[in-house]
Amino acid sequence: MKTQVGIIGAGPAGLLVARILQLNGIEAVVLERRTRQYVLDRVRAGVLESGTVETLRTYGMGARLDREGIPMRSMQLCWDRQKADVSLDDGTGRHLTTYGQQKIVEDLITQRERDGLPIIFEAAVDRLEDIEGETPRIHYTHEGEQKVIECQFIAGCDGYHGVSRRHIPGSDEHVFLTEYPFAWLGILAQAAPLAARRGFAHSTRGLAVASARSATVGRLYLQVEPDADPNAMSDQEIWDELDLRLDDGTDARLNRGPIIERSVARLRGYVCEKMRHGRLAIAGDAAHIVPPSGGKGLNLAVGDARIMAEAIRRLLKSNDTGLLDTYSEMCLRRIWPTVHWACSMCEAFHIFPGQTSFDTRMQYQMLNHWGNTEIGQQRLRKAQLGLPYEI
Ligand code: APR
Repeated sequence: MKTQVGIIGAGPAGLLVARILQLNGIEAVVLERRTRQYVLDRVRAGVLESGTVETLRTYGMGARLDREGIPMRSMQLCWDRQKADVSLDDGTGRHLTTYGQQKIVEDLITQRERDGLPIIFEAAVDRLEDIEGETPRIHYTHEGEQKVIECQFIAGCDGYHGVSRRHIPGSDEHVFLTEYPFAWLGILAQAAPLAARRGFAHSTRGLAVASARSATVGRLYLQVEPDADPNAMSDQEIWDELDLRLDDGTDARLNRGPIIERSVARLRGYVCEKMRHGRLAIAGDAAHIVPPSGGKGLNLAVGDARIMAEAIRRLLKSNDTGLLDTYSEMCLRRIWPTVHWACSMCEAFHIFPGQTSFDTRMQYQMLNHWGNTEIGQQRLRKAQLGLPYEI
């Protein structure tokens, strides 16, 4: 098979690159190793910066998002039985929007299918060939057979465990990594989220987060041990623990309901600074992972996808490699400050092994700064609303 761009991975990064290329008259094939159903059902992040919302609207993906997205105009921080509600209004009209990542993925997949464009599911990419030449090839396995796609560019959007990154020569020498000694137990619950009981909580028992996915579905998290079994706690134990950790000194308690999904994810910060070699570039989780505190992973993936699609457009339409040559540099200008913010949030809210009461007091100071001082609130607002785009 031949196409102009071979895209590996049907996550938000790969699907958005495909969509932008389509609207620029560039042909692409998306290869995804999982089944269609698996990709549609995978529960991930859900907080969109206004830049992400604008990007999706610009490329014709805003209809359901505008109907179902829930504006989020403030952020609540809770610590030491007190709470600060920080307005996100910076005078520009920007705000955050709650809209599950799997809905974005579903919107992009169904649109692509309606347009009759190819996404090959259950197609696992094994290796890439000739990325330094003008017609790189993607080798993949589909329906038990070895197949090849010949293209003019490869978009490696295959997540943290994908194959693309390791095809960038010497990429390991450009990797920066920190592993946190804890994980998040994330649950989806059919229980109407309460305005008085949401936000990020620091407690001496560990972090808790309460957020909304819709008016009737809540997304909540607890800090747990890195190797915790997601089924170790009963529903009631989870709700009790959330209420204990989210205690802000008021009588408010969470609305409880059936837990419909649970999973445990380790927290890490990871950046591969070499994001392009020849006719291969990587975007999204393939290039960087941020701890989920801050809700930045998806937004960063969208930022990369914009730059990657434009760099490919210039290469294929005008034989201009200028943007491609600065691709890593441009992406990293958004990635590092965002990683720094997500890690700062992570370090302020979690209890670390061996943490002293002095360390906890230091965390309270950080949270008081973000929650109650003008300069700290500005910092939080700016970081949460996200960096502007250069492309
Ligand atoms: N062949 C084909 N597909 C692959 C391969 C492979 N060898 N390896 C991985 N994939 C697919 C995965 O199955 C997955 O569907 O690539 C896709 C990558 O998608 P995501 O993991 O969603 O990554 P990305 O599109 O970069 O989105 C980043 O995901 O984890 C969140 O916080 C993160 O919200 C952010 C978003």
